Amino acid sequence: MRGIVTRIALGGALCIAVGGAWSQPKLKIGFMLPYTGTYAALGTAIENGFRLRVEEAGGKLAGREIEYVKVDDESDPSKATDNINRLLSRDQVDVVVGTVHSGVAMAMAKVVRESKALLIVPNAGADAVTGAMCAPNIFRSSFSNWQPAYAMGQVAAERKHKTAVTITWKYAAGDESVGGFKEAFEKGGGKVVKELTLAFPNVEFQALLTEIAATRPDIVYAFFAGGGAVKFVKDYAGAGLNKSIPLYGPGFLTDGTLDAQGEAAQGMLTTLHYADSLNTPRDNAFRLAYAKTFKLQPDVYAVQGYDAAQLLVAGMTAVKGDITKRDEMIAAMEKTKVDSPRGAFTLGKSHNPVQDIYLRKVEGKENKVIGVAVKALADPGRGCRM
Ligand code: BEZ
Repeated sequence: MRGIVTRIALGGALCIAVGGAWSQPKLKIGFMLPYTGTYAALGTAIENGFRLRVEEAGGKLAGREIEYVKVDDESDPSKATDNINRLLSRDQVDVVVGTVHSGVAMAMAKVVRESKALLIVPNAGADAVTGAMCAPNIFRSSFSNWQPAYAMGQVAAERKHKTAVTITWKYAAGDESVGGFKEAFEKGGGKVVKELTLAFPNVEFQALLTEIAATRPDIVYAFFAGGGAVKFVKDYAGAGLNKSIPLYGPGFLTDGTLDAQGEAAQGMLTTLHYADSLNTPRDNAFRLAYAKTFKLQPDVYAVQGYDAAQLLVAGMTAVKGDITKRDEMIAAMEKTKVDSPRGAFTLGKSHNPVQDIYLRKVEGKENKVIGVAVKALADPGRGCRM
């Protein structure tokens, strides 16, 4: 047998004999993320975070080497089904990590729930992914669109604001973010008086800013992220609106964007499951390792990528790398308490994090934590039957 490489199925696990020693083949992980367009930086941060955690595990998961396959999904839902099918059928990946855009994630979930592969969503908040489309093999390491939005609605009502105009891109993430905000804000006595939208990823905001100025609400609630968030926050300040109408939003409005937003973002309040100044030993260690490795400061997207890998580590460790023990692996992932830089979290029944949502304030180049807006917030998982 020496020098000969053979692949045989052993007890359900495919093993390779190399020079007489048995080892399992490489674990194939497909990154389906945006590497171009308005969400490009988010995709890169997620991949960086994921790779960092794998490197911390010695570059292997439960003894298995990793092979990565990458697809740029361009945040384009019309290409999503082909892209995910290519990863599953042509590349035969074991695990898919993706994606950022809710519309793309829903197309991925539809395909993956009918397959044997595992999907870990490291950002896209589409409520349905851990709601009506939930499935045993779909996990999320990030948030649902409802979570930070609901928390901000509650904060805005507690601060006695009475009227709000909302503004966002017209797609699932924007609609659901506005829905979550409105639910809590109106429950607390506020009223959303106008809902403004524009097509994703359009950034021609001027006409809508003029409409906001004419409506004169107490506050504006906005969902934008990535390059679009940079432009919106700058345009909002450029129009002078930040002087008279406070701009609120989920933390995506100011996360990973402060270098580019500069003065325009100062003092803004947002809600999110991460902040730059948590100052816990766990987060400090993560931030140091990330900064050393990538020469960049981490953001929420990096944390979500890192935690996607942490979920996978938990599952792979439980089955000693034998991913064919699918039920056992899923059970371990469901039970794990993720030691996240954001603070430890568990997963709810529909596989979405149950987590604290922080209230943050922009100071200089940091989203500083000024409190916990809602403790251990669980997504309602509406429509999930598992
Ligand atoms: C989404 O499409 O779900 C999304 C994109 C960027 C940031 C947050 C959510």
